[in-house]
Amino acid sequence: MGLETLVDTPPYLIDNPNLQGGFAPVDQELVVHEFEVIGEIPSDFSGMYVRNGPVPQHTPKGKYHWYDGDGMLHAVHFQQGRMSYRNRWVNTDGLQADRAAGESLAPGLKQKLPEGALPDHALKNTSNTDVKYHNGKLLSMWYRGGAVYQVDPLSLETVGKLEPDPRLKGLQISAHSRVDERTGEYMFFAYGNLHPYMHYGVVNASGQLQTLIPVELPGPRLPHDMAITANYSILHDFPLINNPEALKAGRYSLEFHPEWNSRFAVIPRHGSVDQIRWFEADPRYMLHVANAWEEVNDQGETEIVMLGTPYAMPKQFDGSLDVKRLLFTIGTQGTEYEFYQWRFNLSTGQTRESVVDDILNTEFPMINGWYQGYKNRYTYHVLMGRARTVEQPHFAGLAKYDLETGSAVTYHPGEGYWFSEAPFAPRDNPQAEDDGYLVGFVWNGLQERSEVWIIDAQKLANGPVARVILPQRVPHGFHSTWVREALLPQA
Ligand SMILES: [Fe+2]
Repeated sequence: MGLETLVDTPPYLIDNPNLQGGFAPVDQELVVHEFEVIGEIPSDFSGMYVRNGPVPQHTPKGKYHWYDGDGMLHAVHFQQGRMSYRNRWVNTDGLQADRAAGESLAPGLKQKLPEGALPDHALKNTSNTDVKYHNGKLLSMWYRGGAVYQVDPLSLETVGKLEPDPRLKGLQISAHSRVDERTGEYMFFAYGNLHPYMHYGVVNASGQLQTLIPVELPGPRLPHDMAITANYSILHDFPLINNPEALKAGRYSLEFHPEWNSRFAVIPRHGSVDQIRWFEADPRYMLHVANAWEEVNDQGETEIVMLGTPYAMPKQFDGSLDVKRLLFTIGTQGTEYEFYQWRFNLSTGQTRESVVDDILNTEFPMINGWYQGYKNRYTYHVLMGRARTVEQPHFAGLAKYDLETGSAVTYHPGEGYWFSEAPFAPRDNPQAEDDGYLVGFVWNGLQERSEVWIIDAQKLANGPVARVILPQRVPHGFHSTWVREALLPQA
């Protein structure tokens, strides 16, 4: 059953802005090699841009939330000025069950859960959130945690799950694992509602699980991302929880506790439970890390620096804000993102924290992947525009930060365009960290079509050097990655 079934959708779904315009699902899995191009695709870079995002394959049973859709990967392969596009659903267990039944079986975020069901277990692991590349496979992940699906990078066929070791079975592995491109190691975390509430692990370059330890938290939490340095991993415990009573009743009700600190676990990459060190910081909540690295300060002490885009929580939080609304509504109600820095001093155990930028409203930070875990100079973010509805943050443009000079450059083409997270694609034989391109899907709402935009990362303000018109919409989505050509299997 395809999405033609949406024609028969009840009016309350037709009116749902999460199923319209650039959010509207598509029902074709395409392979395309010929395109109309505005400008010229640069011939001095090769590799693959892959982005994940929600695309419901069956008509939702009730109210539909943007986060509910089945994971679909969209891959754009560049080879010396040539380009191909392919899209395919991640063939999750849940999607296979839906296909067998001919309908959507699991409830969505806005629907009432079955009696006695735990929220994590009742929802479908759609694998719609994040994608990374490791050991010759794309790894597709879900923000609520679950099995990680392995996908062939060329065919986008789902070929298995990341269960190289039986110890991983049943772990709710989160979106936002991190790959150290220099060692080939894959660092991940899992979280859930059951004690010890978090796990941390490392899969080595050839796919073996090398490290897996429990990370005990005071209770169930909602971590979304982690950070790595060359020698450490940093896990997050922010004071945002589900109301325990609501959780028992099978639903989520978010609570922010300003009286608690943010806590960060610093763990040697292959460390044991007794090597976990906790650092405290001001109460905040953050979805995404930009990067982290180790640095020696003036006193000769090692500090771990972590940069990210937390929410600028009100200083005097009195509980009156609707936290759920806060998390979805960016650029309204004075609730915005900051670009922020924490420094964890391994000698003193102290944390220093500071704002990098509270002027621009940015999120979805990306870097040159080779610098993941190592000191870098440039970060590339989505510039957030004013949200159209509570659930629809508007990805209005791109921003590039220079951490050395403290400057930022932005590009925003005007009303009607909607960006995706744009990873950095290095030029062949790069001469500098930012010697390459930012590549991303852009929904052109003026002409109602999706395009791939290629922007010279050293000349962001000039806008795209090439705009490639796609024959089918790429519905708005979430996270992406860049895969270097040398790492891809040969076709
Ligand atoms: Fe995310």
